[in-house]
Amino acid sequence: MRNEAYHTFKVEQYLSELEHGVVYNFSESGVHPMSLQELADMAEIDTDAFMSTLIDYPQVNGKQSLRETIAGFYPGSSPEGVMITTGATEANTLVANTLLKPGDNVVCFRPTYEQISGNAQNNGNEVRWVDLIEANEWGIDAQALAAAVNEKTRIIHVVNPNNPTGCVLTVEDRAQIIAAANRVGAWIVADEVYAGTEREGDVETPSFWGTYDRVLIVNSMSKAYGLPGLRLGWLVGPEEIIEQCWRRHEYASISASMLSMELADHALAEPARSKLKARARKLIRTGFDILTEELGRHQGVFETVAPHASAMSFVHFNLPIGSEEFAARLLREKDLLVIPGARFGVENHFRFSSALPEDHLRKGLNHMNDLTRDIMEGR
Ligand SMILES: Cc1ncc(COP(=O)(O)O)c(C=O)c1O
Repeated sequence: MRNEAYHTFKVEQYLSELEHGVVYNFSESGVHPMSLQELADMAEIDTDAFMSTLIDYPQVNGKQSLRETIAGFYPGSSPEGVMITTGATEANTLVANTLLKPGDNVVCFRPTYEQISGNAQNNGNEVRWVDLIEANEWGIDAQALAAAVNEKTRIIHVVNPNNPTGCVLTVEDRAQIIAAANRVGAWIVADEVYAGTEREGDVETPSFWGTYDRVLIVNSMSKAYGLPGLRLGWLVGPEEIIEQCWRRHEYASISASMLSMELADHALAEPARSKLKARARKLIRTGFDILTEELGRHQGVFETVAPHASAMSFVHFNLPIGSEEFAARLLREKDLLVIPGARFGVENHFRFSSALPEDHLRKGLNHMNDLTRDIMEGR
C-alpha cells in the first residue's frame, strides 16, 4: 500500500540521490573525513591488535569502555545512561519513537536538520515550528517559542550548534528554551553533533546536559571528529529512558558495528580526541575564510551570518533565481553540489560546506563565481 502522507527527509534524500560521483561536493555538513591510516597514526592505534579484533556481535547497548568514556563527558551521567547507536541518526529516531505518544506535539526551530520533526510527523504527531531570526544571528524568538509550547508538548528539539546555520544559541536563548520546557514538563532533546567544531575560539559549545532534569543528548563521531563513516553515535539520558530506547534499538539495528566501537574507543581517548577536534577546527577556519574571500568577489550578491561553529555556512544570495534552480544549474553546468535553502524551508539561501582541502575548495568556488556572473548577465 502506498503511503501518501509519508514525510521524506528532504535534505538526506537530496544528498543520497545526488552526492555520489560529484566533482565538487560542497553539500556535506562535516569536515573532510580522515582515512583509517590517518586515524591510526593520530590515535597511535596498535594495528596488529586491531586486526585481531573478533568480528562478533558486540555488546548491544555499546562497548562498556566506550560508554564509560562517554559518560565521563557528561558529569552526573553513568555508563548505563549512555547507549551507542548507529550514528546520531539512530539515536534521534529512537528518541522520537520512544518519547512520542499519540496526541503529543514537538516544537522545532526552523531552519533545522529535520530528523526529529520528520520522525514525529511520520508518527502522526504535530510539529510546531518556531522560526529562527536571521537578523538576530539566527537566534530564537522567545515570544514565538512561548506561544508554540503548550501542555501537549513532549519534546523541544534543539540542534546546537545549528544545522544549517552553524549558529550557537546564546545564554539567554538557552534559558528561554529551558524555561519553556520546564513550564510544561517537556523533554529537551539536544542534538549536539557540531559541538567541538567552533570556528571562533576554542571554548566548546556548552551541552544542555545538567541544565534541566528532562534532557536527552545526541552526539556522534561524524562532525567534530571527522569520522562519519564509522556510523557511530550516542544517546545520553536518564537510565530508564535509555533502557526504553535500547528496547527499540534491538529492533532497529541490534547494535553499532564492532569495528567502529573499537576505533571510537581509541579516537575518544586523549590526546587523540583533542587532536581530532583541533584538526576539524583548523579545516573549518581556513575553509570559511576562503569561502568569504571568494564569495566577496560579487558585491551585494552573497551575504552570510558568520557561523559560530561547523563546516557549514547558510549563504543568502541575491540573484533572480530560486535556490532549487541555482543548485540545479551548479550541478548541471559545474558538477558542483550545494543544498538549496528550500530543502530547509528557507528560500534564497544555500548550504555550503567549506572545511575541505584548500585547492579543491578554491577551484569549486571559481566555478560558482563563473555561474554567478552568467546569471547576473542574464545567461
Ligand atoms: C544535526 C545533525 N544530527 C544528526 C546528523 C546525523 O549524524 P550521524 O552521521 O552521526 O548519523 C546530522 C548529519 O548531518 C546532523 O546534521
